[in-house]
Amino acid sequence: MKKNIAVFASGKGSNFEAIAKSARSGTLKVNLALLVCDNPGAPVLAKARKLGVKILLVKRGDFAQKKDFEEAIIRELKNNKVGLVVMAGFMRMLSAQFVRSYKGSIINIHPALLPSFKGAHGIKDAFDYGVKVTGVTVHFVDEEMDHGPIILQKEIRIKESDTLKSLEARIHKLEHILYPQAIKMIAQARVKVSGRKARITGR
Ligand code: GRF
Repeated sequence: MKKNIAVFASGKGSNFEAIAKSARSGTLKVNLALLVCDNPGAPVLAKARKLGVKILLVKRGDFAQKKDFEEAIIRELKNNKVGLVVMAGFMRMLSAQFVRSYKGSIINIHPALLPSFKGAHGIKDAFDYGVKVTGVTVHFVDEEMDHGPIILQKEIRIKESDTLKSLEARIHKLEHILYPQAIKMIAQARVKVSGRKARITGR
């Protein structure tokens, strides 16, 4: 049986689109059951409608407390039998309680080589710092920001001719390859976590 996954996104949704297309073409054998979005103005919503993916739009402002907001999300995840939560540009930290209730089943993509350049501006921070190598990280989510066991990591060399814009384009292109790959490995039960480390088994 295919694993049900939910993608959480607040913005453009290029990773959502890459995952949805891989699932639709069958290269990624999962069922994209739900898009969870907290921003009514996010371009990802139009992408989900076009691809026929069910949407849960939840605004934090509609709930008195973060706990209520998250409980509303968890209820829908349960209703849709979601087994893997895929964070793709969701601009909100999940509470420790949320992380615990989906322990080991939440992943995130970060546009830099963790543990370097955590936070919302990983590409720009790496570029401005002047590093020669940056990249993309897919990791499990734990209670700390940009922190859990690393599943996949791939480097990108920054060229002399790179601008922030050209680097962003290369990072995003890599994300769209790496994220479906990581989800596929999890769906195939090839990712084993022990302590801080995630190990990939098999071919
Ligand atoms: C990506 O760069 C991802 O690494 C970061 O947020 C961005 C989301 O982009 N966490 P998009 O909405 O998927 O285009």
